[in-house]
Amino acid sequence: MKIISIVGSPKGSAGSTAALLKIVLEGAQSQGAKTETITIKGGEVKPCRACDVCHKTGVCPQKDGFNAIKQKVMEADALVLATPNYISHVSAQMKAFLDRCCGVVHCIGFQGKYGASVVTSGGGDEEPIADYLSDFLAITGGIPVGSVWSAMGQIEGYNFPEDTRKKAFLLGENLVVAWRDKETAHAHEPRAAQYRERMRSLVTWRKEEWPFEYKFWKECRGLK
Ligand SMILES: Cc1cc2nc3c(=O)[nH]c(=O)nc-3n(C[C@H](O)[C@H](O)[C@H](O)COP(=O)(O)O)c2cc1C
Repeated sequence: MKIISIVGSPKGSAGSTAALLKIVLEGAQSQGAKTETITIKGGEVKPCRACDVCHKTGVCPQKDGFNAIKQKVMEADALVLATPNYISHVSAQMKAFLDRCCGVVHCIGFQGKYGASVVTSGGGDEEPIADYLSDFLAITGGIPVGSVWSAMGQIEGYNFPEDTRKKAFLLGENLVVAWRDKETAHAHEPRAAQYRERMRSLVTWRKEEWPFEYKFWKECRGLK
């Protein structure tokens, strides 16, 4: 099993989000997974320009790191999204990546990939951010397995409390078990089904404007 993780933090692999992610990945590795972590510190993935080219051709025309990262995700079995809490939401670095996945969202492009999310904060409010990332995984067709988070303000270094370490390690193990057992049930299923119907309808309506997505839906998503 191959897991791609994306860390959206200017501190990259030296930050607390990457430190918590590392424990998740140790759990996954203990079950035999191969892992690769990509850090987006800022600028590697620029904001979406709303040019609509991805909907028309299937490829983002911006010349930066996005298309290569997307390709790695497409080739992986699982995607772990890791972000610090920046003013009660994901970081701008992570949001730029998610926004650039607009064509993926229209095509339910991460269908069948297992997913997890990791959030750190100074003082709290991590859960809604983790839920937002699980929602992203679900609406792109993924199977969100779970999430882990930690407030760092009162932790020395990266000495996470034992229960957080256990939760993070278990999440990594569970990600591999879900993949191995081909689990498909998850809490976000109703939302994913509703979103899929919304995308089917939208892409059909815009078929002249977005030929790539219409063709993709016909060939790969069962559109009649
Ligand atoms: C621009 C910015 C905004 C932040 N906003 C919040 C916030 O709203 N709530 C919070 O609890 N922590 C906030 N923090 C603290 C970070 O979430 C926290 O330090 C996090 O662990 C950093 O992760 P990193 O080391 O991986 O970059 C903020 C930090 C920065 C730099």
